[in-house]
Amino acid sequence: MKTELLTAAETARAAEIIRNGGLVAIPTETVYGLGASALDDGAVKRIFEVKGRPQDNPLIIHVSSADELDAWCRDIPDAARRLAAEFWPGPLTMVLKRRSVVPDRVTAGLDTVAVRCPDHPAALETIRLAGVPIAAPSANLSGKPSTTTAQHCIHDLTGKVDAILDGGPCRVGVESTIVDMTVSPPRILRPGGITAEQLERAAGPVSTESSSVKSGETPRAPGMKYRHYSPKAEVTIIKSDIKQKIYDYVNSQPNEGAAVLCFDGESRFFPGKLCAEYGTEGDPSSMAERLFARLRELDRDDIERVYARCPSGEGVGRAVCNRLEKAAGGRIICL
Ligand code: TXA
Ligand code: MG
Repeated sequence: MKTELLTAAETARAAEIIRNGGLVAIPTETVYGLGASALDDGAVKRIFEVKGRPQDNPLIIHVSSADELDAWCRDIPDAARRLAAEFWPGPLTMVLKRRSVVPDRVTAGLDTVAVRCPDHPAALETIRLAGVPIAAPSANLSGKPSTTTAQHCIHDLTGKVDAILDGGPCRVGVESTIVDMTVSPPRILRPGGITAEQLERAAGPVSTESSSVKSGETPRAPGMKYRHYSPKAEVTIIKSDIKQKIYDYVNSQPNEGAAVLCFDGESRFFPGKLCAEYGTEGDPSSMAERLFARLRELDRDDIERVYARCPSGEGVGRAVCNRLEKAAGGRIICL
C-alpha cells in the first residue's frame, strides 16, 4: 500500500480517508495516534492488524468537543463533565459507560469506552471534518516506544497505513492520563500529562492503583499488562539517593553493548558508554517530551543493555517513571 504523507494543512484529505474506511496516523499533543473511524468495524479491525495489537486491548475514541460525550456514553457523572470542562482539549482520557452504537471491536467487548478530546489543531480539525469519532491507539507497532514525530510514524507504518499527517513533534510526549469515571472515587488507570493533583483540584478525590499488574490479576486498563515501550535492549532502571552510587555502578559494567539513558549534562559521568540525555533533572515535562524519541534512538542491534535514570515520581514524573518501568519490565536496581 502507498502511504500518503500529508502536511498539517491537509486535514480535509485525512478526514476523507478516514470517512472512506482508511487508516491515518494523526498528531496529538501526547503521541501520534493510528486513527480510523470508530464506527467502521472493518477499519478498526485493520488498526489491530497493522499494530499487531491483541484483540482484548480496547481503543480510545477521540472526539472534537465535550458536546459529543452524550452521543457515545451514558450515565455520565458530574465529575466527568467538570473534568472535560477543565482539561479538554487535553491529555486526559475518561472511561465511561458506553452506548451500544460504539462497536464491540473498539471496546474489546467491555461495557465502557475510553474517550478523549486531543489538544492538537490538526487532530481536532480532522475529527470535525470526518464527522465521526476517531478510534486511535498510539501509532507505534505493538510493544515499541510510542511515536512522537511523523518520522517515527514513517519508520513504523510506511506501507501499512493510507496516510501520515505531519503535525510536528508532540508537545507532551507521553500518553494521556486515563481515569475510570465509572467508579467512585474515580480511579487513575494510567498516569499521564494531567496529574492526580490537577484532577483532585477540579473534581475531588481520585484513587491511584499501582501501575504494575501481578500475574493472575485482571488489569483495569487491559493494555497495562503488556510489555511496552521497549527497545531491543534490556532496560534496567538504576536508583539511589546518592547519585555517585549510580555513576559508580554503571561505570563498573562493561562498555560493550551498553548505553545510558540519563539526564541532561550527565553523559560526562559515564566515560566510554553511549549516552542519551533525555531531559533536565527536576523538570519531568522535558523528560516526558523526549523519552520515547531517545528510547527509539537506542533501539539498535549493537545495544544490548540500557541503564536508565528515572525521575522522582511526582507530577508528570509519575508518568515518566511508569513508562520507564514498563520499558524495563520491572528490572529496577536500588543502590
Ligand atoms: O495519549 C493517548 O492516550 C494516545 C493518543 C493517541 O490519544 N493514545 C493511546 O492509546 O495511548 P493506546 O491504545 O496506546 O492506550 C490506550 C490504553 C490501553 O492501555 C487500553 O487498554 C486502555 O487505554 N483502555 C482503552 N479503553 C478502555 C476501557 N474501556 N477501559 C479501560 N481501559 C481502556
Ligand atoms: Mg500505546
